[in-house]
Amino acid sequence: MEKWSSTITPTLLIVFLMLCLSTTATSQLTSNFYATTCPTLLQIVRRQVKIAIKNETRMAASLLRLHFHDCFVNGCDASVLLDGTDGEKFAGANLNSARGFEVVDAIKSAVESACSGVVSCADILAIAARDASGGPTWKVLLGRRDGLVANQTGANNALPTPFESVDQIIVKFAAVGLNTTDVVALSGGHTIGLARCTTFSTRLFNFSGTGTADPTMDTDMVTDLQSLCPQSSDGNATTALDQNSTDLFDNHYFKNLLIGKGLLSSDQVLFSSSEAASTTKTLVENYSNDSSNFFQDFASSMIKMGNISILTGSEGEIRTNCRVVN
Ligand code: HEM
Ligand SMILES: *[C@@H]1O[C@H](CO)[C@@H](O)[C@H](O)[C@H]1NC(C)=O
Ligand SMILES: *[C@@H]1O[C@H](CO)[C@@H](O)[C@H](O)[C@H]1NC(C)=O
Ligand SMILES: *[C@@H]1O[C@H](CO)[C@@H](O)[C@H](O)[C@H]1NC(C)=O
Ligand SMILES: *[C@@H]1O[C@H](CO)[C@@H](O)[C@H](O)[C@H]1NC(C)=O
Ligand SMILES: *[C@@H]1O[C@H](CO)[C@@H](O)[C@H](O)[C@H]1NC(C)=O
Ligand SMILES: *[C@@H]1O[C@H](CO)[C@@H](O)[C@H](O)[C@H]1NC(C)=O
Ligand SMILES: *[C@@H]1O[C@H](CO)[C@@H](O)[C@H](O)[C@H]1NC(C)=O
Ligand SMILES: *[C@@H]1O[C@H](CO)[C@@H](O)[C@H](O)[C@H]1NC(C)=O
Ligand SMILES: *[C@@H]1O[C@H](CO)[C@@H](O)[C@H](O)[C@H]1NC(C)=O
Repeated sequence: MEKWSSTITPTLLIVFLMLCLSTTATSQLTSNFYATTCPTLLQIVRRQVKIAIKNETRMAASLLRLHFHDCFVNGCDASVLLDGTDGEKFAGANLNSARGFEVVDAIKSAVESACSGVVSCADILAIAARDASGGPTWKVLLGRRDGLVANQTGANNALPTPFESVDQIIVKFAAVGLNTTDVVALSGGHTIGLARCTTFSTRLFNFSGTGTADPTMDTDMVTDLQSLCPQSSDGNATTALDQNSTDLFDNHYFKNLLIGKGLLSSDQVLFSSSEAASTTKTLVENYSNDSSNFFQDFASSMIKMGNISILTGSEGEIRTNCRVVN
């Protein structure tokens, strides 16, 4: 007893402390992670994102969404970028839907030319999402490593669908450590970008077998969307998620919900469903009242989302080509 406490304990204590230090040194993301290894990284990504959006405005939205779809499946590890029939690109939420992969390739290639083999694809997605959104800015945290596997089943299970209830969506966010504030603030990402008829047409004609359109949708909007998405159509036509100001990152997404102009069911239920009253409705009203509250919460929720189950230190790898493991 005497011997154990006087000799072994101090040694164990030192080993323990060293372990703690080494883990904390590698497990946290930092904003200056590439300060010496790739000092021009942020400028390079910003420039490439700007070029891509200048070519196609919608790319802003597509890049923002890619980071979300990456982070919810096996963490922010660029697993969404991996090609292959077992990849996440073939999961329900991504098939014929996720886009921007060529732009990520272009960014990666510009980054590799300046600093070869040091910047992860997962970090590129995080920086591109921030720069693309055109909304509030924040200090993006870096140091993620790229994963070695894609998880198609994980993508099918973890990503929310536009047909789910508020409670179901809250559960999926909670599974990755995000709360109800994050659900509402991040749903505000739908202030930009487009959605296909197939993601909302169940609301237009015979909603839940009622014989009419979803009663929570504004009737003029129902009429417009019925002509965009006739029942005989293939479901591939697109329209703005924010019907008021699609290219502008603003709080009209929330203002729309107050007047029945949310496009997806999963948008409108944040305000109109019975569950919303005790969960999301007040937040929707708050963000519709004051865009600076939305911007502030969106930025902190993006930082939180960017921190989901990250790989750091010697975990994973730095992919050379974002589409394949090394
Ligand atoms: C809360 C649960 C969410 C659901 C159910 C959902 C669902 C959807 C759906 C169905 C689409 C249209 C896809 C298509 O037509 O192919 C879409 C688009 C989009 N989503 Fe979400 N989403 C959610 C959360 C988020 C979050 C957290 C973000 C980012 C912060 C986001 C950003 C976007 C963007 C920017 C687009 C447009 C993409 C483009 O135009 O290429 N979404 N989402
Ligand atoms: C520009 O955008 C169009 C779609 O609008 C796309 O087909 C094309 O590949 C893009 N070009 C570049 C260089 O990104
Ligand atoms: C795939 O994701 C699910 C969560 O939906 C997780 O339980 C599983 O461990 C993941 N599989 C791999 C191979 O990462
Ligand atoms: C969600 O978490 C944030 C901190 O990340 C906190 O400020 C906020 O109050 C939480 N929201 C809810 C509804 O618990
Ligand atoms: C609506 O759907 C229900 C059940 O799915 C069906 O019984 C009903 O005939 C449909 N009504 C119309 C007008 O198509
Ligand atoms: C919808 O578009 C996708 C490609 O984006 C295509 O594969 C599919 O066949 C289209 N659907 C129909 C019914 O044309
Ligand atoms: C957008 O919303 C504003 C009010 O915030 C309204 O005055 C304007 O008419 C709306 N525009 C469209 C296209 O819905
Ligand atoms: C929104 O603003 C209205 C009018 O100024 C106010 O009555 C309401 O309490 C506000 N709601 C929230 C959630 O901030
Ligand atoms: C609105 O949201 C902001 C930012 O999250 C918060 O500080 C404020 O207390 C909220 N106000 C109301 C009335 O909910
Ligand atoms: C990221 O997650 C780690 C581990 O869960 C946590 O210790 C850290 O505070 C988080 N950082 C941010 C910025 O959320």
